[in-house]
Amino acid sequence: MSMDRIRELIDRMTLREKLGQLQIVFRPKLEDAAELVRAGLGSVFWPPSAAATNSLQRVAVEESRLGIPVLVGLDVIHGQRTIAPVPLAQAAGFDPALVTELAALAAAEARSGGVTWTFSPMADISRDPRWGRVVEGFGEDVHLTSTMVRAMVRGYQGGDLTSRTSLAATAKHFVAYGAPEGGRDYNGVDASDHQLRNVHLEPFRAAVEEGAAGVMAAFNTVAGVPMHANRRLLTGVLKDEWGFDGVVVGDAEGVRNLVAHRVAGDEAAAVVLAFEAGLDVEMGGAPADLTDEALTRIDGRRLDDAVARVLALKERLGLFDDPYVDEDAEITEPSARSRRLVRRAAARACVLLRNDGTLPLGSPRRVVVTGPYADSTDHLGAWTQYFGARAGTIADRLRDRLPDAVLEILPGVGFLDEDGSGIPAVVAAAHSADVVVICAGEPSALSGEAASRSDLRLPGRQEDLIRAVAGTGTPFVVVLESGRPLVVADWIEHAPTVVAAWHGGTEAPAAIVDVLLGDEDPAGRLPMSWPRSVGQIPIHYAHENTGRPATTGGTLSADETDVGLHGPDNLQDKFTSKYLDLELGPQFSFGHGSSYATFACGSPTVSREHVECSALDAGAAVTVSLDVTNTSARSGDDVVQVYVEDVVASVAPPVRRLVAFERRTLTPGETASFTFEIGRDQLGFWMTDAAQPRFVVEPGVFRLHVGSTLASMQSVELLVS
Ligand code: BGC
Repeated sequence: MSMDRIRELIDRMTLREKLGQLQIVFRPKLEDAAELVRAGLGSVFWPPSAAATNSLQRVAVEESRLGIPVLVGLDVIHGQRTIAPVPLAQAAGFDPALVTELAALAAAEARSGGVTWTFSPMADISRDPRWGRVVEGFGEDVHLTSTMVRAMVRGYQGGDLTSRTSLAATAKHFVAYGAPEGGRDYNGVDASDHQLRNVHLEPFRAAVEEGAAGVMAAFNTVAGVPMHANRRLLTGVLKDEWGFDGVVVGDAEGVRNLVAHRVAGDEAAAVVLAFEAGLDVEMGGAPADLTDEALTRIDGRRLDDAVARVLALKERLGLFDDPYVDEDAEITEPSARSRRLVRRAAARACVLLRNDGTLPLGSPRRVVVTGPYADSTDHLGAWTQYFGARAGTIADRLRDRLPDAVLEILPGVGFLDEDGSGIPAVVAAAHSADVVVICAGEPSALSGEAASRSDLRLPGRQEDLIRAVAGTGTPFVVVLESGRPLVVADWIEHAPTVVAAWHGGTEAPAAIVDVLLGDEDPAGRLPMSWPRSVGQIPIHYAHENTGRPATTGGTLSADETDVGLHGPDNLQDKFTSKYLDLELGPQFSFGHGSSYATFACGSPTVSREHVECSALDAGAAVTVSLDVTNTSARSGDDVVQVYVEDVVASVAPPVRRLVAFERRTLTPGETASFTFEIGRDQLGFWMTDAAQPRFVVEPGVFRLHVGSTLASMQSVELLVS
């Protein structure tokens, strides 16, 4: 259908039919859905079957007045039938090609059941791990998040949305939803233009550039203006400045929420405000009560533009030509191939936080498996509720893999309760074991939407269990599953071997066992910093230097408490940016991680030490290269990261920011050369001093820090003139 045909169709629509196309109704019953679609509803939010979708499409095409097929939307977040690791874990894999494969798998499974539109990826930058939705995104970093957002959009959409294996992707939640005050979900955000442009908007810009079909408005306010009514950002930036020609969908009841936000007196006013601001589809049901009079308050051209966007999406998906799916080809179960893929992904997402050599385990004869995750099946993570997906247990997988060992499975404590009466039995068993595997963490329900926490320690008595096992002197490993960074300060010094495994999905138990036994290398890297204490939050590596950077923290002593003067001696130690009662920096920084193999890095070199701004503007790039050698007797993965430090800029720059990375497997003794392009995009930033922000590269010295962890970086300078 051409644009002309879309216009023709719009010309034939009544106001009510137009409104129908601008709504997605949330989880209606099948019979209600048919009735709504017959009356002209444009989209349903549904966990459907192929047969149910086909019957609904039949009603739409054959029984509604205009015969327009429906969009079927669903939160396909990290898998449909085969559940992949949560997005935060996918980010930890530092492997965008794998993220694309996982999204393509999810798309094929979902589309086979008739879903055409997913509300993913989440492009929000999260720097506050109290916020439960950090699990749904790619962490704290702008470059990592933008890269993964692009990778996921590519995976969902493929090159062609008409393909029976593609889904329309939606970047959400536009914008700054990841920065709610206090980490409390849905709370307000007061971000400057500098922050918006350089941090929160960037991953959305990447999604739009990648061709994402949809963008979802966020629940939060930005500087007092709820995003569902934010004309400046929805229309001004997203549509006008970036040229986004897809569909802006509201979040569930987000339009209705404008009344609670107190910017609309009633729901009709909320609807008018939202559509006028640039929303194209309302999710939930607010407009159902609208009078025609209220509808006519919305500018007619705006309404038609929104309808045209929805119809164009249906056209892009090929629904006008064939809205049906092949019921015999519906995928209802994971396949051997899909299981292999998510198992590999779950293993690659694991981050070796520390290792004293206890891992990999080798061939232990007596193993105690303890902690609430030992025999739990709760590995799927948030947003997996629709199709009854299941995972097994770590205990069962270990039993399969170590048939000759004596395994004692003693959870010892629950996830949340305060009952520590099982700990002594674990301690007794640990005394006669070769190794103890403690499977600890946060159950899936503690992260996700409306799941913010003010305390990020392991819940219940899990920390006591770890300390008790540590007291036995038996070697042990802690496997942590969670949907967010945790505060581990109260036990980490007693635990020399810790793996962060996140919520790994359908095959998490098998993947964790692969890692424990050394079949897979847990060489992921942290996509978010792990704080020492909740009092440090928000914490992230790309902070400003401040006018008084500290070199030490946690130095509170009695005689310092009454120092009142800014004397030259005091200035250095006392009047610096730190907490008196906390060491500097996070427990584990963004980018932290290791491998079972060991690597030696050469010094980084640049292809040229000097480049002109005008050359960068014309597309020139400098390359930075570094050789890495696997110095161990086993294969393993290194993740080389490149950070830029802008030494002097006209706006205080972050101390460093990631601009490139690559994860690669190196065989024993192999030396590999890693090369990265550094051009305008990597060196510039958004300048927001004028009404129209602009992306600039300023002349001066840039330090490029290259290496496998933030702690072991080597640097090389580049002069831009
Ligand atoms: C969430 C969205 C989600 C929508 C539909 C909302 O509550 O914020 O991320 O897509 O529900 O389930």
